[in-house]
Amino acid sequence: MRLLVTGGLGFIGSNFIRHWISQHSKDQITNLDKVTYAANPDNLTDLDSNSNYRFIKGDICDQSVVDQLMSNIDLVVNFAAETHVDRSIDDPLLFVKTNVLGTYTLLKSALKHKIKHFHHISTDEVYGTIDHETKDEFSETTPFDPTSPYAAYKASADHFALSFFKTYDLPLTITNCSNNYGPYQNPEKFIPRVITNLLTNKKIPIYGKGENLRDWLYVDDHCRAIETVIEHGKVGETYCIGGLKEACRNIDIVKKILKIMGKSENLIKYVTDRPAHDNYRVSWKKIKEDLAWEPQESLDSGLEKTIDWYQKNQDWWKKAKIEAENFYQKLDNYKNLK
Ligand code: NAD
Ligand code: DAU
Repeated sequence: MRLLVTGGLGFIGSNFIRHWISQHSKDQITNLDKVTYAANPDNLTDLDSNSNYRFIKGDICDQSVVDQLMSNIDLVVNFAAETHVDRSIDDPLLFVKTNVLGTYTLLKSALKHKIKHFHHISTDEVYGTIDHETKDEFSETTPFDPTSPYAAYKASADHFALSFFKTYDLPLTITNCSNNYGPYQNPEKFIPRVITNLLTNKKIPIYGKGENLRDWLYVDDHCRAIETVIEHGKVGETYCIGGLKEACRNIDIVKKILKIMGKSENLIKYVTDRPAHDNYRVSWKKIKEDLAWEPQESLDSGLEKTIDWYQKNQDWWKKAKIEAENFYQKLDNYKNLK
């Protein structure tokens, strides 16, 4: 099989490509990535000598590049996106192009080239927020109610994708996943930010009171879930993916990391909250019952592996860390962090 993977130099995309090649060594993968600040070209250097893998630097919004690559492809897996909620609050327009127009460009080309399967990667954030008290959960039937500009553009892309299935019969599946963590995640995101702050003797910024709820999934489990949906999912269907039975408060994640790293809770610093800060909990009942997928990594073991990786790979994150902290410095809301 010939795959076009977009955004494959980012966090989940690079983990997915490595996973797919390990399971399907004869398949050919083309990785189309614009190499934004979020990409790291070193993520897949271990595949440099693999003749079944090639990297193309390019933009999913560029119809001519997309058309050229799509002409020899069976399966498209679309990871490419602007992904950071805080950046979407700072500069929403940037997100429209890649997350909406980019996805549309890929869908149009996939249709033109009669692609056998288009798998679109989305997020649980399209569903908005759960009630903090009742702790209800998102599922595939929850109406879209996005909160951040990032989530609004992802929701828009999901609507476009499903409309291409309904209107033009493009064979398509979608997965809406909760928060991922693990190796190769940009240190602008919460868990790697906490770990790398501790490794560089900085305090840990917690937005608001640290009460916000998230569901966490180890990235390898997400990659297996995507593979399961591609291989066994029903065309036209959406599958929610999550990792926990109960949603977890941000403060509890931080306390777990501090404990594993042997650091003091005095390092916690509460900072101004994110605007429209939401809460998530996602039900993964459908993918479990219909496709027999479930997460294998526990939160504790996943955090231990992740901390170990960031400790051992400081050269990988040092440059991105400077860039990330420069971004946070720029944001008025987070300026009070020392
Ligand atoms: P990331 O920010 O680490 O990587 C995104 C990648 O996309 C980068 O390599 C970047 O260079 C590339 N890219 C951006 N714009 C592009 C464009 N116009 N053309 C080609 N490439 C472009 O992202 P991630 O965390 O790995 O997320 C991947 C996908 O999974 C996204 O669609 C995201 O919405 C979704 N998702 C992420 C999470 C999470 O917790 N990280 C959870 C659920 C869903
Ligand atoms: O739910 C899936 C989504 O998870 C993905 O679609 C997004 O691409 C991904 O970035 C992630 O979004 P979040 O907003 O949940 O992730 P983030 O890592 O930015 O923040 C996680 C939680 O931690 C959130 O409640 C905000 C809080 N936070 C974050 C940072 C960076 C802090 O308290 N302090 C911080 O410094």
